[in-house]
Amino acid sequence: MAIQRTLILCKPDAVSRGLIGDIVSRFERRGYVIVAMKMMQLDGERARKHYGEHEGKPFFQGLVDFITSGPLLAMAVEGEEAIAGCRQIMGATNPLNAATGSIRADFASTIGRNLVHGSDSHESAERELAIFFQPSDFVSRKHDLERWILEK
Ligand code: RTP
Ligand code: MG
Repeated sequence: MAIQRTLILCKPDAVSRGLIGDIVSRFERRGYVIVAMKMMQLDGERARKHYGEHEGKPFFQGLVDFITSGPLLAMAVEGEEAIAGCRQIMGATNPLNAATGSIRADFASTIGRNLVHGSDSHESAERELAIFFQPSDFVSRKHDLERWILEK
């Protein structure tokens, strides 16, 4: 077990549908803490960098067009095994395969509008967090994390 930091995005569909509060609360109530948060609209260059692993795939251009289509909310989230834990809270990529109670099962219906992004590994988290945040953007929530872990 280890404290990990991961990048979570409320994608433009989540922002425009007014679901930010519902989504953020899912991570908070699980015991994860937000250590950075930013509303922003991505340009194409940053979007292609973020989704670089998918370059060349048939859905790549549509994904870049969508993620740049409006404001998104970027968050750095910390907690015990937060990378896998946040992916569990999000649910499978295709909402039809997402576990009941996950964000994508509860609020989404198509793979192309699945509301959230979460880093899929430690390496992805480090690479992606650097695309969205500067080192000075992060606050320390060490005491909140320790208290939560002890109390729960
Ligand atoms: P994300 O990166 O957004 O957190 O999603 P993920 O890890 O669950 O899925 P990933 O394979 O990384 O795919 C990135 C996003 O691309 C869109 N997608 N469309 N039409 C398709 O077959 C297809 N496959 C992926 C999804 O919006 C997915 O979230
Ligand atoms: Mg992914």
